[in-house]
Amino acid sequence: MRLGLFLCLRCCPVLSPILETVMSETPTDETTSPPQPQPRAIRIFDTTLRDGEQSPGASMNLAEKLEVASALAEMGVDVIEAGFPIASPGDFESVRQIAATVRGATICGLARCNEKDIDRAWEALKVAPSSRIHVFLATSAIHRQFKLRMTTDEIVARAIAGVQRAASYCDDVEFSPEDACRTEHDFLCRVVEAAIDAGATTINVPDTVGYATPGEVYDRFAMLMNRVPNIDKAILSTHCHDDLGMAVANSLAAVSAGAGQIECTINGIGERAGNAALEEVVMAMKTRQDFYHLTTNIDSTRLVPVSRLVSKTTGINVQRNKAIVGRNAFAHESGIHQDGMLKERSTYEIMSPEEVGFSKTDLVLGKHSGRAALADRAKQLGFTLSGEQLQEVFDRFKELADKKKEIYDGDIMALVQQQISGTVTTQWSLIDYEVTSARNKTPEVRLTLKHGGQEFTEQVSQGDGPIDAAFWAVEKITGIELVCKDFRVRSATLGRDAIGEVNLEVEHRGKTYRGIGVSTDSVESTILAMLNAINRIMAGQSDASEEDLPQP
Ligand code: KIV
Ligand code: ZN
Repeated sequence: MRLGLFLCLRCCPVLSPILETVMSETPTDETTSPPQPQPRAIRIFDTTLRDGEQSPGASMNLAEKLEVASALAEMGVDVIEAGFPIASPGDFESVRQIAATVRGATICGLARCNEKDIDRAWEALKVAPSSRIHVFLATSAIHRQFKLRMTTDEIVARAIAGVQRAASYCDDVEFSPEDACRTEHDFLCRVVEAAIDAGATTINVPDTVGYATPGEVYDRFAMLMNRVPNIDKAILSTHCHDDLGMAVANSLAAVSAGAGQIECTINGIGERAGNAALEEVVMAMKTRQDFYHLTTNIDSTRLVPVSRLVSKTTGINVQRNKAIVGRNAFAHESGIHQDGMLKERSTYEIMSPEEVGFSKTDLVLGKHSGRAALADRAKQLGFTLSGEQLQEVFDRFKELADKKKEIYDGDIMALVQQQISGTVTTQWSLIDYEVTSARNKTPEVRLTLKHGGQEFTEQVSQGDGPIDAAFWAVEKITGIELVCKDFRVRSATLGRDAIGEVNLEVEHRGKTYRGIGVSTDSVESTILAMLNAINRIMAGQSDASEEDLPQP
């Protein structure tokens, strides 16, 4: 059956290079193997700031989004999906500011297939030197019948109108038939052909619910390449969700069948089980170039720093055994493996830790280290600090160095993260606190906070322990009630004097917010994490005036 497809593709000048790639994967006798084809370039479309931010509790503030977007551009990402501008004024503003400041990548904004969404997306994107409008509309029978209540003709007409409107603003238009991997082949071909005729330059074929298998994805992309008559006028893209743990395999199947773009996120974060992990698709194509014959623009040595940055800014930890960027990804525990590694690294290592950006040392800074050393270390760890940010982190670094002799990478990451997450809205800040607690006694907290230049003090005698009492005191002063959903304390480094990092997830009026606080004192870390969450709530409240849209 495949042979029939190959014979047909062979005739097409656009597809024949892809065919070469696919055919060269067939095992051949080593002595007679033909010369390897030139690797084909795959565009990396990062959607950490849009689909990734849809992970529950992963919302980032403006400063964090700008930081992540700059790091993505610096790493070599081709397209950054910066957000969904109609979703809220906050989303609009972050897309606009990323479009205005981040250089080196195309900045993309998402829009449903209607005039209001598309106009709003363009409003946010138009300042960028290179921008893309991404329009989506569901096409599968299940979405047509239950979600949209539209006929196939209506869907095609809406897709054409949406793409045409986006194309009237911008040369670079992406169209996504949502739930494409569960859409009937004939109808998918019809919509894709119509969208290309209307001006779409990229056609994204999402596996919205993470249902497809690699074989099915390969066949679907090969089918589109073979059956859609104007397919040579657009780039095919893949966007896979990880509900069955197959997002990376499915993305690689799509590019093997001819797709030219992979949509993915750092650490694989995203709606439900997440998206294909950028670091995994990139390293698979790089490490197995002999098999895939594909290449990307990504500087792989930035993968670990950017992974850390995203983990810190979203509060979503990377599992230890996560491929490529997990702490254990290059740790060899077994004696047999260690022995092999000492004799010859390649016995048990297919990539080097340096290639993906793990540094050789956990460099120690101390009291006498200067601003330049701190900035350099922060950069190595994934954070590029502006002059003002650097000064603030440096001040806190000096305070810490007075308490702690040696400052490790973990401490620096915690300090920098605290600075970035508090940058946009520091409405409430901590002035002082005093706690008394003893076994079988009600704890007491005296807390002073500052807001709008005024100080407020409360004395609270309530709760199960000093942390609970601190919660009560913060709520009493700010008047904001929080339901604690998750509370994690972790030491940023080893040692008794290590910084304690509190990661908090709270619910307020049905929405989830995150807060982070770091200090060598765990009660202080808790208060700081609560204030960080409250400041995010207050920033969110000022966003609440516009319609609160369901996310795609
Ligand atoms: O998963 C999906 O279908 C999406 C689209 C908006 C591309 O995220
Ligand atoms: Zn998605």
